[in-house]
Amino acid sequence: MRYTLPDNFKMGASAAAWQTEGWAGKREGQDSLIDMAYKQFPDRWHEGYGPTMATDFYHRYAEDCALMKELGMTTYRTSIDWSRFILNYETGEVNQGAADYYSNVVDELISNGIEPMICLEHWELPYSLFEKYGGWRSRTVVDCYVRYAEAVFRLLGARVKYWFTFNEPIVFPWLGIMDGVWYPYTCDTGEAMQWNYHKVLANALAVKLYHGGDYGYREGGRIGIILNAAPVYPRSQSADDRKATAMCDLFYNRLYTDPCIKGEFPAEYFSLLEQHGCRLVYDEADLAVIRDNTIDVMGLNYYTPHRVKARSSAWNPDVAFHPHYYFENHELQGKKMNPHRGWEIYAKGLYDFAMLLKEEYNNLPWLVTENGMGVAEEWKYKNPDGVIQDDYRIDFVADHLRWLLKAVEEGSNCLGYLMWNFTDNVSPYNAFKNRYGYVEIDLDNQRQRRLKKSAYWFQQVVQQGYFEY
Ligand code: BG6
Repeated sequence: MRYTLPDNFKMGASAAAWQTEGWAGKREGQDSLIDMAYKQFPDRWHEGYGPTMATDFYHRYAEDCALMKELGMTTYRTSIDWSRFILNYETGEVNQGAADYYSNVVDELISNGIEPMICLEHWELPYSLFEKYGGWRSRTVVDCYVRYAEAVFRLLGARVKYWFTFNEPIVFPWLGIMDGVWYPYTCDTGEAMQWNYHKVLANALAVKLYHGGDYGYREGGRIGIILNAAPVYPRSQSADDRKATAMCDLFYNRLYTDPCIKGEFPAEYFSLLEQHGCRLVYDEADLAVIRDNTIDVMGLNYYTPHRVKARSSAWNPDVAFHPHYYFENHELQGKKMNPHRGWEIYAKGLYDFAMLLKEEYNNLPWLVTENGMGVAEEWKYKNPDGVIQDDYRIDFVADHLRWLLKAVEEGSNCLGYLMWNFTDNVSPYNAFKNRYGYVEIDLDNQRQRRLKKSAYWFQQVVQQGYFEY
């Protein structure tokens, strides 16, 4: 069947500063949390690859922008590395070399006809703020972030129309602070929720600053947040499974979507935490800021849905509180899976979430800011000419796009689809293991770029304005 892209539908890719740039140009002490996750435990990263050199975008951005143009990309979303951009994290003094670099990247994108979208934090919290204040535990860090945001708005506000305050802000609190599987490897749900709360507040303060200042909002600029929120599906319609699913939704979606879009945390959120001994530090003035400064646009990173069931046994009272007190993940047997990642592939989830945004969140403008297919040992799929035959990626993208277009047809306010990723890149811990790009990065050949079959497919779709599936 033929699927036609709507007029002006943004088609591009997303990336992050630290996953592409490499450390070139960074000064001594300008480490981010994720840099330190690598510096302190390099062995935990697949084959020792990490942010050190990444894809060398820092030196090769002009080449990459030219390649994006060749593929017909209209949009590229990446982040500013806060730890690189600022010299003095407390005063907000800017590192001029970094400002020049980001300014050049934005100019290069624009001169190639590619719209830049900028995210202010994709886990690049300066390490020294973590060391000194405990990171997002601290209200002081919120103020440091706002000073940093202001410096970036001043520099790029006239050239960048789409801004995002955070990328997947829940991920470090969740995996690093609550589950202890990522750096800094702690297991403290209360602390994680304090991080989440301060990120929600920092988002609102950045929105307030952008809306109130002379940075580009009045010329049509938009600001929002990128969330890895996902549709939640109960195992059954039983009351227990549905309650479990609502709790998963609360702790993994609504603790961001509700305050950022509606201005209010879910009614029971604070009382539930208190009941479990997780006391948040917050005040009414900050809650008013959150209420009055909601986002203009949302980015959705969608890979896989939540499948949920009620707990089969009661929570062990000796174990500290965790959201799994309320639910368990439902088994995935029989589901279509990405075997390299252990994630269910469920393209209709994108449609379901689009409808949720339409119906429950006032049809907020949004776009897909990540969606993609990670594949290990992708070199195995090369044809004799050395081109990776990634038909599985074409299938993945086309399937998700068709569901997205159905949602648009039914009134979803979706502005575009940005794939993860333009090139293969470094991921946390998995490094270059799972490849996501339309463009291969050849690690044995000085990170040479080589188009995969999916890149040619993408080019054709954008040129024609439609695809068959
Ligand atoms: C996404 C993250 O959830 O997963 C990306 O936003 C990451 O930053 C991607 O690169 C892929 O992860 P992995 O572990 O499969 O390489």
